Amino acid sequence: MRPVSYHTPVLREEVLTWLITSTDGIYVDATLGGGGHAESILQRLNPTGVLVGFDADPDAIQFAATRLSSFGERVTLVHDNFRNISAALAQRGIDHISGIVFDLGVSSYQIDEPSRGFSFRGDDRLDMRMDPAQALDARAVINQYEEAELADIFWQYGEERASRSIARTIVRQRSGTAVETTGELVALIKSVVGERFLIKTLARIFQALRIEVNRELESLQGALGQAVSLLNPGARVVVISYHSLEDRIVKETFKRDAALIRPSGNKLVPDTELVPRLRILTKKPLEATIEESRLNPRSRSAKLRAAEKI
Ligand SMILES: C[S@@+](CC[C@H](N)C(=O)[O-])C[C@H]1O[C@@H](n2cnc3c(N)ncnc32)[C@H](O)[C@@H]1O
Repeated sequence: MRPVSYHTPVLREEVLTWLITSTDGIYVDATLGGGGHAESILQRLNPTGVLVGFDADPDAIQFAATRLSSFGERVTLVHDNFRNISAALAQRGIDHISGIVFDLGVSSYQIDEPSRGFSFRGDDRLDMRMDPAQALDARAVINQYEEAELADIFWQYGEERASRSIARTIVRQRSGTAVETTGELVALIKSVVGERFLIKTLARIFQALRIEVNRELESLQGALGQAVSLLNPGARVVVISYHSLEDRIVKETFKRDAALIRPSGNKLVPDTELVPRLRILTKKPLEATIEESRLNPRSRSAKLRAAEKI
């Protein structure tokens, strides 16, 4: 097996600043990845503070288990999708938490590891599953979805203008032989858009496929509501997103939960039974500094939003 590598986590200091309101209690890292954020949270907490880390990818759990082993019983690692967060915590006797961070999307390891099929730079099996135990993979989406469904995915999740012609080309090809690899898919896309806009188109189509395979937007939507319910009063949720569709969900969910309070703190007259349960801390999302963007290209598209339970 190749040595596994993860880069420095994006916006590490900012996550700590926004997330940690007390140095004990139970913190949750919903997206462990290489365990970089988890490790810095544990270092910042008192020895009584504990962390529960989730990842859908068993490789991430294995890597984080080694990295965090010196923290002993202060760490619990859960191989599960964060959309199951309430149930997974309840099974462990946890119904309230002191803070939760989501650092969304894929890790540098997942992108760099050819066997995972996330990257358009190699010629690997079309996979893109964060959890290899899941049945649906990118090969099934490309070879089994109706043409209109494919076009909708490319348009909605990739905002790709050539969505219809790319879908048509894929369907024409697969009526002869199945599209098996990332390289074959790249060649089909290239035959539609040519060389000039190829990289940007590939990025959009691969993003769209990844979102569909992993049901990323539904998972995020479901998990955010659960996360807010789990927070103690005064505890915080911090989310780093990497594209506008994710960021919109975070922004809208926070806004809805804070709906009856103006940013100034003035209460509006409630017109429903709902009471606000969240105070938005970042009116505008935080972005990486120029220095961080230079050192860590992945941080260029990162947006951090934070909110506090009332
Ligand atoms: C950007 S990486 C996290 C990096 C991490 N913060 C660090 O410091 O190394 C995102 C991780 O979240 C995981 N992930 C994404 N969506 C998930 C979901 N719905 N449930 C559980 N894990 C998920 C991915 O498998 C990946 O390992």
